[in-house]
Amino acid sequence: MKSKSVFICQNCGSQSPKWLGRCPGCGEWNTFVEEIEEVAGAEYSFLPSEPVLYQNIKEFKKPRAKVKIEEFNKVLGGGVVLGSVVLIGGEPGIGKSTLLLQVARDFAVEDEKVLYVSGEESLEQIKLRGDRLGVRDGQLYLLAETSLERILAQAEKIMPHVFILDSVQAVFSSKLSSSPGTISQVREVANQVFRFAKRNQVSSFLIGHITKEGSLAGPKSLEHMVDVVLLFEGEKDHSHRVLRALKNRFGPVSELAIFEMGSAGLQAISNPSAFFLKERPANEAGSVVVSTIKGSRPLLIEIQALVSSTLFASNPRRMTVGLDHFRSSMLLTVIEKKLGYSFGGEDIYLNVAGGLTIEEPAADLGVVLAVVSCLKNRPMPPGVAAFGEVGLSGEIRSVGQALGRVKEAASLGFATVVLPQGNVAQLEKEDLPGTRLRGVKNIKQAIDLVF
Ligand code: TYD
Ligand code: MG
Repeated sequence: MKSKSVFICQNCGSQSPKWLGRCPGCGEWNTFVEEIEEVAGAEYSFLPSEPVLYQNIKEFKKPRAKVKIEEFNKVLGGGVVLGSVVLIGGEPGIGKSTLLLQVARDFAVEDEKVLYVSGEESLEQIKLRGDRLGVRDGQLYLLAETSLERILAQAEKIMPHVFILDSVQAVFSSKLSSSPGTISQVREVANQVFRFAKRNQVSSFLIGHITKEGSLAGPKSLEHMVDVVLLFEGEKDHSHRVLRALKNRFGPVSELAIFEMGSAGLQAISNPSAFFLKERPANEAGSVVVSTIKGSRPLLIEIQALVSSTLFASNPRRMTVGLDHFRSSMLLTVIEKKLGYSFGGEDIYLNVAGGLTIEEPAADLGVVLAVVSCLKNRPMPPGVAAFGEVGLSGEIRSVGQALGRVKEAASLGFATVVLPQGNVAQLEKEDLPGTRLRGVKNIKQAIDLVF
């Protein structure tokens, strides 16, 4: 094995033979660190090395182990595929260790052997958390260790069904001289765990920390090396957490699960719409319930708008939380042009309640209604939800999954749904008792209808 010195961007993994102040790959400053790169030979020698005739390849059966948390299974595409490597990334403190200790607990009581390795906490600390989570019987082994080679030696000895490593940044391989957490170490760790998992058909979970700035330092550079990449997100001040797949070799990436962090760990929320609407103020102007799609499921959320005279006459504020800033600015301009308002002297704040982020254009109509509701100081009529994409001429365009959106609204008591006229035609054949569909063609018509 030869080795040479290279500089690696700790943000995106770009390499350079010499130090650079700014990474040409991701544009970040001061991210290059010198690392020793081992030039390895036949790394993937466990893969078949001869070509096989297409017809002779056996169908790939994917035996899966079910996690007890059904929502987690869904995100994985129906359970953990045996021998697969799942990377779970998230900010420190978001609840990654908690989630995986719960997973470990559930497998252990089912008599599956689990090895939970922590390079960050002592056994006593993990037990303290385990007590809160009600870990009791079963074959759950803990190991507090940071040397990867020692960890894998123990794993070979115990030979668990499920292997959990907390975290990829905390452990190091003695094959490399660079320090733990550097890109080359993190890659080496993932690579060795990957080979261990495939060789022994052990389902493995890797925890990876994501830095505060939102950049996936480390974990980003592992995405191509693992089978599944999950992201665990949430706001520190909110109790809910969202788990979603960024990559899945064995399933769709559209599913997501929502959890609530409580005193006994994470609880899957089976009715997220009710959860996100439960604190919605009744009869307040500027608040609109929107039927969006998160992952593959419909979700009702509340969009809020606040318009108030500005103190910064030359540069009024446009603040958005949870919505795309440029899209929101565009919608404000459409409102000015098509509805005859003028926002030159107004600060405008837009917010998705509960700390969620909504990326899809189907929320456009909700934004427009929220802003106008606030301007008119008229609350939305009770029991009305809305969705629809708004174009630059103020037209309302149809969106996907209209049926799911309408049903979700109806199931939470929103009997009237304002939606694109184009979607109404699709829904005519559907049996939607007690639901009134109000199709609209442009924002003017929507405003006249609602207010
Ligand atoms: P943790 O799993 O340690 O986060 P991570 O591994 O992602 O860094 O969880 C951290 C937070 O969760 C911590 O602030 C305490 C809180 N928590 C609860 O609120 N309830 C619980 O039952 C547990 C175990 C943790
Ligand atoms: Mg942790």
